[in-house]
Amino acid sequence: MKKIAVLISNIGTGTNLQAIIDGVKSGQITASIVAVISDTPDAKGLERAKKYKLPIEVVSKKENLLPLLKKLDPDYVCLAGWKQIILDSVIDAFPNRILNTHPGLIPDSMDGVVKNPDETEALWNKGKMTDKAVRNFLETKATYAGCTNHFLSLEFDFGPVLGRCFEKIKKGDTIESLYKRLKVKENKLYVDVLAKLVLSKTVMVIDGGGRGAALVDKYAQSKKVSRILVVPGNDLMQVNTKKPVITYQNLKTTSIPEILKICQKEKVDLVDVAQDNAVEAGLVDRLAEIGINVFGPTRKAGQIEWDKAWARKFMVKYQIPTPKFHAFNSTKEGIDFVKKYPDSKWFVKASGLAEGKGAIPASTINEAITAIEQMQKFGKSGETYLLEEWLIGEEFSAFALSDGKEFKMVGFAQDHKRVNDGDQGENTGGMGCVSNPLIIDKNIRKQTENIFIKVIDGLKEEGRPYKGVLYLGGIVVEGKVFIIEFNARWGDPEAEAVLPSIQNNLFDLANTINLGGLKKLKIRIDKKVRVVIAATAKGYPVDYKSVRGKKVLGIDKVKETGVKIYGSGIKKVDSGYTVNGGRVLYIVGEGKNVIEARERAYKAMRLISIEGNNLHYRTDIGWRDLERIKR
Ligand code: AMP
Ligand code: GLY
Repeated sequence: MKKIAVLISNIGTGTNLQAIIDGVKSGQITASIVAVISDTPDAKGLERAKKYKLPIEVVSKKENLLPLLKKLDPDYVCLAGWKQIILDSVIDAFPNRILNTHPGLIPDSMDGVVKNPDETEALWNKGKMTDKAVRNFLETKATYAGCTNHFLSLEFDFGPVLGRCFEKIKKGDTIESLYKRLKVKENKLYVDVLAKLVLSKTVMVIDGGGRGAALVDKYAQSKKVSRILVVPGNDLMQVNTKKPVITYQNLKTTSIPEILKICQKEKVDLVDVAQDNAVEAGLVDRLAEIGINVFGPTRKAGQIEWDKAWARKFMVKYQIPTPKFHAFNSTKEGIDFVKKYPDSKWFVKASGLAEGKGAIPASTINEAITAIEQMQKFGKSGETYLLEEWLIGEEFSAFALSDGKEFKMVGFAQDHKRVNDGDQGENTGGMGCVSNPLIIDKNIRKQTENIFIKVIDGLKEEGRPYKGVLYLGGIVVEGKVFIIEFNARWGDPEAEAVLPSIQNNLFDLANTINLGGLKKLKIRIDKKVRVVIAATAKGYPVDYKSVRGKKVLGIDKVKETGVKIYGSGIKKVDSGYTVNGGRVLYIVGEGKNVIEARERAYKAMRLISIEGNNLHYRTDIGWRDLERIKR
């Protein structure tokens, strides 16, 4: 049960305190009042508190409030007539957790305005309290009075708005008559806001890129989720929602002690670990150890991604179709080996995580030797490496949710890894993708499903039940699916295409899976096709240093079109946004088919530019499906 502390004083009559007490007693507010705190012992409200046997604290000096609140550790602090100054250190220690009621209409932004129900401009009443505020409504001949419930922020009489109410001013109203009616509404608003708030949830997403942004967007759509924390996140995470999104960009996804501390301090209700390094570092395990609800695979289950040599052996053991492979631990062993097969073509792969750069194609023996020599530059990740038979075929990605026992497939996509049109140029982290690709027919779907059965059962058998999202990277060779890789997470940019198709509340979905209830769960997926295009800095992935810091233009225009935009290597500055990484942002177009989805995505992409003509994107995302349609 959530805990609340109510702060009062000897001004006012304590009606808000009474309303909160009544709300708790009646069960409308599912929380307990851990203290009624007053700045003087003669506050009227203390008598009410005594009557209901609520714990009482008197804090006569403002400096003493923070230590007391830290000791009580309430989820929410409700100001109900408190008149002492709240020090900035208290607001800093309880961000978005101190509620206040203000007798005026606070806008959403400093330069915003609130409209009354009759469309006239409402009064903010900044700096005015109690009857002075009411007098102002009357003296300015306002048509409505009103009040706002909001979180306290460092800005005076401002902060995230939780609710507003309006009261029509009647002919002949006096301060007393108007105040009386407004009070009733104010009390009700406080209770309604608190009732909702104590049920509302905080989610933390572990990722910094477009995939994280898509997760934030999806979690924010849940009515139960009131705010989202992202480690590290980026400056465009807020773009798709009004709910507060708080990023921790000074942290890494592997900053485990710091992440644990934030989860405890912010009372996080669910952590979604969506990034590979964090899985390898054991973030899921460590969160679970301290009792935090976490969605994602343990380090042992995630070995299927972070140890490719182990993963290949696992696939052989459980008869999952894999290209032929050989694992080596020294440069010499590998070179001696390839010399025995001078006509073979290989994929040389670091066994560990390498930010998607660990697989090098080698079509000649010399290329193979060079690639093997390069494995050292991946450090520990390249100490063991694989030589894999180079399969020629068409690739796809498939995604399943699993609770360790059961799994459900949630979508397919097709990534475009090369930097230029026509699949030319360097390999990248992904230049775009299309969901529901046409390569997925009944036969491929069935084979994919059978592979998921084997991998989920196999991991269970090995004592590493897989909980979370499993990514199957497949390649179709003459009608047969082989595994390129498994990843212990959503793909990026595939997440940006597949997540929006899920119609369930993601917060509920993750919790049901965590409780082992996937079997009975009906996952609803829409039938739309989505096309994701990456907007990158010119020169990516080789050298784009000179583009860093250049302005990114057109984001607001895209927002106006309603097309989704997910940020990645992007930073907010005073005048707008600037480039802060190779893959800057993603645009997601949707439609009934690939033609419609592409049209929407490219139309929106044409609104984006990077200062100095430094924007690059592929113009042929989805080309395979377009060709299939033409045929
Ligand atoms: P990975 O680092 O395993 O994600 O591999 C990156 C990309 O290299 C894949 O998406 C494939 O396009 C390609 N690739 C990796 N392994 C093979 C293989 N054995 N045969 C053909 N292509 C491969
Ligand atoms: N889209 C490729 C990956 O996420 O690894």
